[in-house]
Amino acid sequence: MTLSVKHILSARDLTKKDVDLILQNARALKEISYRPIKKVPTLRGKQVLLCFFEDSTRTRLSFDIAAKRLSADTAVITKSGSSMAKGETILDTIKNLAAMQADIIVIRHKEAGVPWEVAKAFPQISVINAGDGMHEHPTQALLDLMTIQDAKGGVAGLNVTIAGDIFHSRVARSNMILLKKMGAKVHVCAPKTFLPADIDKYGVAVHTRLENAVKASDVLMMLRIQMERQDGFFFPSAREYSKYFGLTREIMKFAKRDLVIMHPGPVNRGLEIEPEIADGGQSVILDQVENGVAVRMALLYLLCGGKEHE
Ligand code: CP
Repeated sequence: MTLSVKHILSARDLTKKDVDLILQNARALKEISYRPIKKVPTLRGKQVLLCFFEDSTRTRLSFDIAAKRLSADTAVITKSGSSMAKGETILDTIKNLAAMQADIIVIRHKEAGVPWEVAKAFPQISVINAGDGMHEHPTQALLDLMTIQDAKGGVAGLNVTIAGDIFHSRVARSNMILLKKMGAKVHVCAPKTFLPADIDKYGVAVHTRLENAVKASDVLMMLRIQMERQDGFFFPSAREYSKYFGLTREIMKFAKRDLVIMHPGPVNRGLEIEPEIADGGQSVILDQVENGVAVRMALLYLLCGGKEHE
């Protein structure tokens, strides 16, 4: 079995079979990271370009590590330090990178839609969307799904709540799409100013009180307040946001004993989540990071023509 898609642009494009294939391969490839020599020759001779025109720690490093664990070569370009800082356009930049014979381009950009433009312009190269503006972050949704399955034994029928800055969050959009596709009951919880105008289209339950959302949840994904995207009047003050929408030990009194707590990172400690909860026994935040490497290994492997991993 192979993937039905050449690019990983949106969670919408993936069939349930694609998702199962990716996670099955991620689970098989994960053990490589625990070997004394963390490397296999599977993608030797393949070139992966990491085009990160917006800041990243987890996504960029996990793609880099994933590629290297499979023996692919990587090259990184960021806006600062490249000729984009001199005004070269994104498509001209990618055209030059493509001429260097890339097999896969991983791209993060602050403008929604850029990965689609790159995939259209260079159809011979597989393009992975590593986050486009406020739009989508499909590989994050895949690693989140793997983490939920690991923690809960499955996802179908589970109540999964995504809470916080939904409006600015590409993680929320990709997760709403993917979790619904895989049979979860998806809830969102946010102040009204943090809910997208088209939230009804996602078919999710909407809460505006965190304790109600927490009571209903098997899994709770807290989102970062995206300070860098707050160009409107979204909440009166950090203290007020934290009081009503921060995950505190007080709010956790409403939670099921086996509630699983997630966060895509980076975490604003003390704003959307108390440090004691982010670091506590119900948190799987570092499992998400660990699974990020495995999921990205699986994607690189499958996009380079790999089949079910043996
Ligand atoms: N979760 C996530 O996308 O983190 P980075 O911005 O550090 O890549």
